[in-house]
Amino acid sequence: MSDASTSDRVLFRKPKIAPYFKRAADHWKWNYKSIVEPSRALHDRVDGKVVLLTGASSGIGAEVAHKLAAAGATVLLVARTREKLEIIAQDIRKQGGKAFVYEGNLAVMEDCDRVCQQALADHGRVDILINNAGRSIRRSIKFALDRFHDYERTMQLNYFGSVRMALNLLPGMLERNEGHIINVSTVGVQANPARFSAYLSSKWALEGWSWVAANELAHTGVTVSTINYPLVRTPMIAPTKIYEYTPTMSPAKAVSWMLDVIITRNKRKVGPMGLAALSMYYLLPKTSESIVNLGYQVVYEQPPVKAVSTVTTGDAAKSMENATGATPIKRKANAQ
Ligand SMILES: NC(=O)c1ccc[n+]([C@@H]2O[C@H](COP(=O)([O-])OP(=O)(O)OC[C@H]3O[C@@H](n4cnc5c(N)ncnc54)[C@H](OP(=O)(O)O)[C@@H]3O)[C@@H](O)[C@H]2O)c1
Repeated sequence: MSDASTSDRVLFRKPKIAPYFKRAADHWKWNYKSIVEPSRALHDRVDGKVVLLTGASSGIGAEVAHKLAAAGATVLLVARTREKLEIIAQDIRKQGGKAFVYEGNLAVMEDCDRVCQQALADHGRVDILINNAGRSIRRSIKFALDRFHDYERTMQLNYFGSVRMALNLLPGMLERNEGHIINVSTVGVQANPARFSAYLSSKWALEGWSWVAANELAHTGVTVSTINYPLVRTPMIAPTKIYEYTPTMSPAKAVSWMLDVIITRNKRKVGPMGLAALSMYYLLPKTSESIVNLGYQVVYEQPPVKAVSTVTTGDAAKSMENATGATPIKRKANAQ
């Protein structure tokens, strides 16, 4: 049928209903197994599977890589720092596991494509994609007025990089009618704390993609899951002094969340704090805003050195442009 004849008519197809029953049965089976015999369940889920894990050189990703390899998965470790990935891969191989290193900057779309193509050429398929690599920026909007690149950088890795990886690997998953995509997000998407507009917008975008993708794929064997981590004590939060005094989740617990999602393929993993923040927002939106704002006012924020000093024109603007590919907003002075 030509495009012209189909585009002006609404065509209907007979939907497939059986996959919903299979998914429901699988849901209960794997959730039950995850409670009664989690180690066995993990082994059954990943043994012989190929798992591509981004952000595998540090924090949550590095720990998860070891656990998956120990459970029988072939892990493909992706990050920018080859040396760190090699150390992790060697450790895994010493324990008898299978690990392969793929260096790439996932904020660059060509790197995403190259890593995926190489992984598929080397291993034939990727069964599980874990979009875990992430970049966070903590800065008030008033200090980001001439830092549009904050928004571009977070989107580039957290959103575009993750989606690009998924688009590369989805065709194979759909062909086999089997696959799992896990997108790592944050409880910030439920709680929306101040100072994270750049970071959280990119994670919101990723969650939007995940939600729609999950809805579109529900009749296939491909599942999309999201994890909303609270603060986890990893190198990501180390530069922020106040987090030394803030309750955090241990990396071990964060790993157990990830493994649980791999076993159960549940749509979302979120703790009580996230659910409470979300309920509060829907029930009492203005009160919730005031509470978050109170916390925002209480903690003093040092203005960024570059931002106070300047005008983003001339050489400074050019160097920013060169470093980020972003076009800085030209203004005379930064608002305080
Ligand atoms: N820690 C927390 O409190 C927390 C809370 C909520 C959600 N999360 C999310 O959890 C995930 C893991 O974070 P983490 O705490 O384990 O952080 P981390 O220890 O800082 O690890 C981040 C990982 O991402 C990789 N990465 C960063 N930029 C990259 C790029 N452009 N291309 C490829 N890889 C890149 C890093 O490796 P290279 O530097 O070698 O590239 C590293 O392996 C992130 O998505 C984060 O947003 C963390």
